Amino acid sequence: MVQPEGSSLSPASLRCEYLVNPGAIDARQPRLSWISDSSVRGARQTAYQILVSGTPEGLAANRGDLWDTGKVASDESIQIAYGGKALRSRQRCYWKVRVWDQAGKASAWSRPAQWAMGLLEQSDWSAKWIGDKLPSVENVAATMLRRTFKLPANVKSATVYATALGLYELRINGRRVGDQLLAPEFTDYNARVQYQAYDVTPLLQQGDNTIGAILGDGWYAGGIGLAQIVIKKSRNIYGNHPRLLAQLEVELADGTTERIVTDASWKTTREGPIRSADLLDGEVYDARREMPGWDTAGFADGAWTAADVAEPIKAQLTAQANEPIRVVKEIRPIALTEPKPGVFIFDLGQNMVGWCRLIVRGKAGETAMLRHAEALNDDGTVYTENLRAAKQTDRYTLRGNAPETFEPHFTYHGFRYVELSGVTGKPVIRDMMGRVFHSDMPESGAFASSDAMLNKLWENIRWTQRGNMHSIPTDCPQRDERLGWMGDILVFAQTGIFNFDMAAFFTKWMRDVRDAQADDGRYADFSPHPFGRNERFTGVPGWGDAGVVVPWRVYQNYGDRKMLAEHFESARRWVEYVRTTNPDLLWRKGRGNDYGDWLNGDTLIQEGWPKQGAQVPKEIFATAMFAHSTDLLSRMAKVLGNDGEAKKYSALFADIKAAFNRAYVTPDGVIQGNTQAGYALALHFDLLPEQMRPLAVKHMVDGIAAYRNHMSTGFHSTYRMMLELTRWGQNDLAYRLISNRTFPSWGYTIENGATTIWERWDGYVKGRGFQDKGMNSFNHYAIGAVGEWINRVIVGINPDDDSPAYKHFILRPRPGGGLTWARGSYNSVRGFIESHWRLGGNGLMYAVAIPANTTATVFVPAKDAASVTEGGRPLDKSPGVEFLRFEDGAVVLNLQSGSYTFESR
Ligand code: BGC
Repeated sequence: MVQPEGSSLSPASLRCEYLVNPGAIDARQPRLSWISDSSVRGARQTAYQILVSGTPEGLAANRGDLWDTGKVASDESIQIAYGGKALRSRQRCYWKVRVWDQAGKASAWSRPAQWAMGLLEQSDWSAKWIGDKLPSVENVAATMLRRTFKLPANVKSATVYATALGLYELRINGRRVGDQLLAPEFTDYNARVQYQAYDVTPLLQQGDNTIGAILGDGWYAGGIGLAQIVIKKSRNIYGNHPRLLAQLEVELADGTTERIVTDASWKTTREGPIRSADLLDGEVYDARREMPGWDTAGFADGAWTAADVAEPIKAQLTAQANEPIRVVKEIRPIALTEPKPGVFIFDLGQNMVGWCRLIVRGKAGETAMLRHAEALNDDGTVYTENLRAAKQTDRYTLRGNAPETFEPHFTYHGFRYVELSGVTGKPVIRDMMGRVFHSDMPESGAFASSDAMLNKLWENIRWTQRGNMHSIPTDCPQRDERLGWMGDILVFAQTGIFNFDMAAFFTKWMRDVRDAQADDGRYADFSPHPFGRNERFTGVPGWGDAGVVVPWRVYQNYGDRKMLAEHFESARRWVEYVRTTNPDLLWRKGRGNDYGDWLNGDTLIQEGWPKQGAQVPKEIFATAMFAHSTDLLSRMAKVLGNDGEAKKYSALFADIKAAFNRAYVTPDGVIQGNTQAGYALALHFDLLPEQMRPLAVKHMVDGIAAYRNHMSTGFHSTYRMMLELTRWGQNDLAYRLISNRTFPSWGYTIENGATTIWERWDGYVKGRGFQDKGMNSFNHYAIGAVGEWINRVIVGINPDDDSPAYKHFILRPRPGGGLTWARGSYNSVRGFIESHWRLGGNGLMYAVAIPANTTATVFVPAKDAASVTEGGRPLDKSPGVEFLRFEDGAVVLNLQSGSYTFESR
């Protein structure tokens, strides 16, 4: 973008409610944001002007007929709530922004962006829920629906609003509507159903048109992990009739409008090719049953019956708040083997989540069977025991007129290997393509270093995140579980945010968390909670606490006060549940399933490895979590300007700490149990009085030595211990743990072939084989939470709690572990941050990028201030650099925005 003479800023990356040009927003005052690009040091915004117009032409003519803020003196560029004319359902809003820089010069207008309002009132829906009468009690064929209609004139614009109880794929005139998979995604269908809006203008024509849909059972009517075990029901958890709700609204060139809605005029059949489809089990597709042209106007649907119209539902319809699930990557196999005659195995080289696109060779009537697995047995066959009851098997029956290509619709699998059998045609390696899909959050982080193992670890963490973000943050994507386990995301949230922009995703999921909260304030162990939120799987320390921790992370990283405001009362009810159940402030009672510091060292199998001594006593774990949530609650209250609550909960935090120390900590700083984890948690949550902290650090270090410099921590304490080692002068030891290749360590899993993060350190051990098949996922992000340490410590990027959303932040890399260089970046809500260091014969090179309109405190490792230069100049001659102090082996500087290169000799 061309900048007008002299302006150092150029606004870009316009978002509405975190999304790029969203098609349905139901916040009545949507929040807008942008970032300002600049190549000038110290560039900063001093004012902005936003224009919102009801038409693109109006916007082009600089008419803010919906909202013209005028010139607002402000340095804010995120979370700006729309304050113009009241917005109606369906309203289209076209907007742009310009900003004034530090010299008072105006930028050019940004490129235009847009959003559209959704259907704000339930009465906006005239569509009815339709399906067929057959329940899907068994895993039965997919319901297909269609309707033909006439449009009397050319189409000016058309939007279809759609959702399902179950899953849907919508088609118009033979073409698929949009590229979203598994819509409307996973929510508690009793409470809330997300709907989607699609611009379908190009799909329609004057004259005859056909709209059609295929329904899948999905989370609504199909299998959900644990359901069989927990409620003795393998399917139909929310209902047994998949249903569609669709409303096509067309504006015609002659000025009239047409509305085509789901109702009794639609026709339905279950005679199509999808014979069954289940998220866990897979899809069965019989190509001989395809009905070419079923979604076009000429099709003879005489054999179809009238659709069944169902009663309205009580659940709330909300516009989808998160990025849709869609295919984001394709991967080609790296090997094809035939371990048994006629049984072929494709190796994708990467444990991935999605499904396959397969070119099938064979004769009509033959059925290709595709079994998906994360690992191989020693004999080269697929290892599927760890999938438990999830079949992850697709079947495709050939119609017999090659080439035939198969890709499923309403399922997903976690796998690296695909076994193909059942067909006479011999496959070739290029017949298979892995189609990777997940909620399509923008990538936000990058990392590379001189250590290939660390780079692989970082890639594994990202792959595991990709594999577990399917509209909810899941524990795993392969076995019969795949639930929104709260403890796992509690520990992983910050790492996840460093890697991907999670703001919209968490906006959606925090609603699921509130929907799953029990009436007495207990948060669920997983959200959504499909099995009775008041009865079971609720109220667990370290799991329920995600209801406090995750929104706080969202606030720290994205400055989302609105989320805090919406969520505060819910978080308060959780803390109050724990407090009132435990008036002496030690969390002894009401801990639900009480998982503790999950998968700690006591669960490991290895000769010579201690059988006990790793697990922090559960009561201590619980009380530490209670203290931490209370602390965060008080900080939330402060942000919200609620001083009374802030004081109340900071006093409660102090009281819990006092009770904690009285009950569990000896005068010489030993925390009951004397576990690595106990110290890590107490330090991380600031539970110990100052004089006790060095003692605790010493005990923690001794505890690590007792395990021959290995971790015995569970998933809640592992990454926290890493952070605390660094914080308390034990950075070398932290580097040692991350560099370990011996069991248990990240390096060990990589040496044993991991391409994703494993649930257990010893998921597979060469020579011993697989861990307990009952719980052995190879795609679990929890111990990947160490990504937070990699970013904060190796790269050195740290948000500043006192200045949320990177308005100000801290760059503090801590070279170590024999690394000679590392480079990382984070695309924050205010722009691109980079941190890159390299050790050489002449000392250290450190290059940073600080987005316009932000500042950073930067720690440059050095002997003293005089030995550091920037761009070849002494520090005091370098524009934008302010020397603050020398601290702990680093020159501490305050930097204005811009790019800087330091040399430290
Ligand atoms: C999940 C975990 C989860 C745990 C609760 C497991 O089955 O996979 O990651 O947090 O249950 O203990």
